[in-house]
Amino acid sequence: MGAKVIGIGTSLPEKVLTNDDLAAMMDTSDEWIRERTGIRERRIGLPTSTMAIESGRAAMEMAGLGPDDIDLFILATTTPDQRVPGTAAVTHAELGLGCGAFDLNAACAGFTYGFVTANAMIDAPSGPQRVLLIGADALSPLTDWSDRGTAILFADGGGAVVLERTDHPTLLGWDLGADGNHRRLLMGDHDSFITMEGRDVFKVAVRAVSESVLTALDRAGVSPEEVDVLLPHQANIRIIEAICKRSGIDFAKSHNVIDHTGNNCAATIPLSMAKAHADGALEPGAIVVMTGFGAGMTWASTVVRW
Ligand code: COA
Repeated sequence: MGAKVIGIGTSLPEKVLTNDDLAAMMDTSDEWIRERTGIRERRIGLPTSTMAIESGRAAMEMAGLGPDDIDLFILATTTPDQRVPGTAAVTHAELGLGCGAFDLNAACAGFTYGFVTANAMIDAPSGPQRVLLIGADALSPLTDWSDRGTAILFADGGGAVVLERTDHPTLLGWDLGADGNHRRLLMGDHDSFITMEGRDVFKVAVRAVSESVLTALDRAGVSPEEVDVLLPHQANIRIIEAICKRSGIDFAKSHNVIDHTGNNCAATIPLSMAKAHADGALEPGAIVVMTGFGAGMTWASTVVRW
């Protein structure tokens, strides 16, 4: 069994925050942010649920499906609207779904964790035929807009896919990883802003993600040269370059949106996927690698035959 992506949808807030806007608020500059992160501007201003609903609806429309056609719904988010209930609940109601639904919190690796989970569920005996998987996060309310170490990176966004069962394998290899000893490098307590040790996160991410990609490729029996499309978590363009260098995947194969989206956590990989789809890169049979990392720290990689 396998699961193919039959619908992709995205949602970004209308409000644009440029690097110059940030430079007016704190000691930084457009030049510094572009050089050190690859970000020009980002979108902020919508709650997680709104972006989940908009992107989920768009993915179902592209798939030509109604709410009764979805058998399971997973929402990857680390920024739920409320503590209780999970944000899957309001999204489920607004989309008119009747299936099982739950939040999955693996921070910025959440979409990739969810992708593996969705595939495993579809593969299970009497598993669902179709799964709606959404990654949505609103980091802006948790961002200290006077902290130049985090404010330059974080943003809001949503992205969704519909996965449908097929009779041939599609998920060729995967790797899920975590190291809770690094939990203090990137954290936000109840009612406080996110704090981050940027340099340490950078180092752990590059090492863990490149090893994770190579592990997933090895399990899939695919070489780095055979990768057609790389959909990496959009945290910093220099991290993506370093991961490509270490794993042997050509940077030109990566589809990046970070220059205009910033880091919107679980949404970045489906946003990158939507760009790859619009570019015509997601041809049937293409080898597609997704890789994400985030607070925890968590990381996850998949190798998919499209
Ligand atoms: N504007 C201008 N100068 C800045 C700055 C900013 N926004 N942030 C830091 N600086 C300065 C520092 O004060 C330091 O100055 P000094 O050399 O005089 O002490 C210098 O720039 C270098 O700082 P450093 O922290 O080493 O920068 P960096 O190259 O590591 O970039 C990050 C900082 C946050 C962009 C980078 O560490 C990063 O992206 N880390 C990973 C974060 C991440 O991926 N988080 C999400 C995980 S899901």
